Amino acid sequence: MKKVILSSILLLGTTSIFAETTMCFKENASMSTIEKTPLDGGICNGKLSVNDMKAKGWSVEDIKISQSSTGMNFIYILKNGVTVSAPTQSSQFVGNQAQMEANILAKLEAKKEAEEKAKVEKELKDAAVIAKELYTNKCQTCHGANGEKSAYNTARPLKDLSVEDMQESIKNYKVGKVDSMNANIMAPYANFVDYKEIKGIHAYLQSINK
Ligand code: HEC
Repeated sequence: MKKVILSSILLLGTTSIFAETTMCFKENASMSTIEKTPLDGGICNGKLSVNDMKAKGWSVEDIKISQSSTGMNFIYILKNGVTVSAPTQSSQFVGNQAQMEANILAKLEAKKEAEEKAKVEKELKDAAVIAKELYTNKCQTCHGANGEKSAYNTARPLKDLSVEDMQESIKNYKVGKVDSMNANIMAPYANFVDYKEIKGIHAYLQSINK
């Protein structure tokens, strides 16, 4: 019994010395040219294509293809070195492969998130530029150049409001839900702005109060 365990441990050791696995990937690539396209990650490192890797003695163990909004994403698992047909070897390989796949997928996901975040930030920035004119012409006499004034001493300074608070107040003026003494002063202006403009005004006030 003891002997068997010892020999499989030895085998595991030999395998990890001679067999090498790498994972390379490419985002937004095309099926027809992928084999000639330099891949990112692993030993490919932005320089070597599948064909280059094959020429260097690597073989393709597995390919994962997924559809993204802008094209196809390819993940290649490539292997170099001896093939040992022992169960320990293959299960160890599967373990590594799953780990590497998870790492790459996490990386792709993080990249996508960062791109989406940058897009939202840019949209807000653009909205703030448009909102600047609106705010200076229609709101600042009562609310202050930086949104710091309490209009007629009843409004909260706009610069301190979250975008949700602002939307909520504007909506209430629009539907006549506010019955404060000065609500009739603000109501016509509330009717004048929409949800998107409020978002822009909020972004503008945040940008000048940083
Ligand atoms: C003529 C003065 C005047 C102008 C111009 C004006 N407001 Fe107001 N605003 C007020 C007053 C007064 C109040 C508080 C009314 C009350 O007591 O309910 C108020 C309240 C608000 C509130 C709610 C604040 C809170 O405490 O919840 C928001 C948001 C707001 N205004 C946004 C705007 C925006 C955006 C513009 C430009 C499109 C604008 N206002 C233009 C006078 C003005």
